[in-house]
Amino acid sequence: MPTEFERFPNLRVFDHPLVQHKLSIARARGTTPADFRRILDEIAGLMVYEVSRRFDTRAIAVETPLETTEGRQLSRPVTLVPVLRAGLSMTDGVLRLFPEARVGHIGIRRDEATHRPVFYYAKFPHDVRDGYSIVIDPMLATGGSACAAIRHLKEVGCRDIQMVCLVAAPEGVRRVQEEHPDVLVFAASLDRELDANAFIRPGLGDAGDRVFGTVE
Ligand code: PRP
Repeated sequence: MPTEFERFPNLRVFDHPLVQHKLSIARARGTTPADFRRILDEIAGLMVYEVSRRFDTRAIAVETPLETTEGRQLSRPVTLVPVLRAGLSMTDGVLRLFPEARVGHIGIRRDEATHRPVFYYAKFPHDVRDGYSIVIDPMLATGGSACAAIRHLKEVGCRDIQMVCLVAAPEGVRRVQEEHPDVLVFAASLDRELDANAFIRPGLGDAGDRVFGTVE
């Protein structure tokens, strides 16, 4: 079970040895974009198991080769919502384990000077409001992008939203907690702090740039 924190009741951190092992590889400066992508994908796959634990199921009849028995089926659709660009890096890993999920994209970038979120794109399944939404973004820094994504989903009627990230800064977790206390945040690490440039420390650099090889 992920670790819970008294000061952040909305946060769940994965203390699983495999997640922590892989996170350390992701953090390392020398990890290539190819390995970085693969590792994020693998961590996302490990995380979705817990993230989906609360999802409701309903009873269904299943015909085995021998008899009819009662089985369970997820009762509501699930939509993954990667925040472009970096969120794409954790989406395939979730889809591999959970191919029934749909994917809605949201484009938000953080302005480099003001650190404020700039919205540029959204496309969701028409019935996204009827199910669970999982916002995916490896980095939760100031929380501006996450809160903007969650707000956007709420504006189209979504009510059951969770957030999955790799590294979270206390500032970002607090902001999500204040603006969206109903949203659980799942992370592989609660990092120490944001620095003067609003970078997560110790962090792992800019995930989007590392995934797509656009580091300058
Ligand atoms: C990064 C990251 C988050 C956001 C986090 O994206 O992937 O979306 O910044 O910062 P915040 O919590 O302070 O809003 P970026 O703007 O670098 O875009 P990218 O994914 O296209 O690289």
